[in-house]
Amino acid sequence: MALVTSTQMFKKAYDGGYAIGAFNVNNMEIIQGITEAAMEEKAPLILQVSSGARKYAKHVYLMKLIEAAIADAEQSAGFDLPICVHLDHGDTFELCKSCIDGGFTSVMIDGSSKSFEDNIKLTRQVVEYAHDHGVVVEGELGTLAGVEDDVKVAAEDSSYTRPEEVEEFVSRTGVDSLAIAIGTSHGAYKFTAAQCTRNADGILVPPPLRFDILDEVSKRLPGFPIVLHGSSSVPQEFVKIINENGGKMPDAVGIPEAQLRQAARGAVCKINIDSDLRLAMTASIRQYMAEHPDHFDPRQYLKPARANIKALVKHKLVDVLGCNGKA
Ligand code: G3H
Ligand code: 13P
Ligand code: ZN
Repeated sequence: MALVTSTQMFKKAYDGGYAIGAFNVNNMEIIQGITEAAMEEKAPLILQVSSGARKYAKHVYLMKLIEAAIADAEQSAGFDLPICVHLDHGDTFELCKSCIDGGFTSVMIDGSSKSFEDNIKLTRQVVEYAHDHGVVVEGELGTLAGVEDDVKVAAEDSSYTRPEEVEEFVSRTGVDSLAIAIGTSHGAYKFTAAQCTRNADGILVPPPLRFDILDEVSKRLPGFPIVLHGSSSVPQEFVKIINENGGKMPDAVGIPEAQLRQAARGAVCKINIDSDLRLAMTASIRQYMAEHPDHFDPRQYLKPARANIKALVKHKLVDVLGCNGKA
């Protein structure tokens, strides 16, 4: 099967009350871990590439690795693995164009830090080029806190999406999906300790997402796919392994999975996960290194790291997104 856009995936996800996982990819082991999980769970998949990932691995390597994953699924399991390749947080028309020309089937143009009018103008420009080339576009309204590539948005500069703006934004830009800000943020430190309470074990419990904003947006855009960025849950078992094996990640905290499941039942059709993959990989490698100080063959520590990513992604597909069996 060739690469697909997210159009059919989102329509089925909206109607079926589940979401598609959009996982960030940077190297072969990450791509293999994610795609093997999706293959075994028969789940549709979005693999997303940030501009940092393109700089790290190069566009052509990532595209060829993704093509290899599709071929492998076909050869080893006779399974047509539906994959949409998406640019994550495109910030210029030129970057989006380069990804469209290079074979991506979906791009995000993130004009969320611009004025409403400038965001519309830039997004419209990308939509026109993308649609002419059979590619779909994700826009964003509202600003998430956290770090993407070199852009750092401080918590005080983040802002929730204003529901009263969404209809005008979607109709004037022609976007195919919309990322909104309802309290998620990028990275492994989504809330300060002061914003949270602590449970009996001393683990931070974050404030709930703003489902009232999500509900208002969905009412104003019936049937329209909504995207959640910053949706890692920062599994505490990984944080513990990292901290016990030479790491230092005090008070890392994410979005509770039950809230993501709730969002996926409604209008949220795409849920972005990157930090949890990084934590799975890092926890595994740190533990392996600590337990095998004499090993130096990268395959020895990358193998369990890849397996840990696969197990994590299976859990997300089945227990959080609900998209297993939907391919
Ligand atoms: O939204 C941010 C993603 O986690 C990508 O991160 O820009 O460091 O590749 P990156
Ligand atoms: P996390 O940092 O929560 O994994 O978010 C990833 C993301 O939104 C990529 O666009
Ligand atoms: Zn993001």
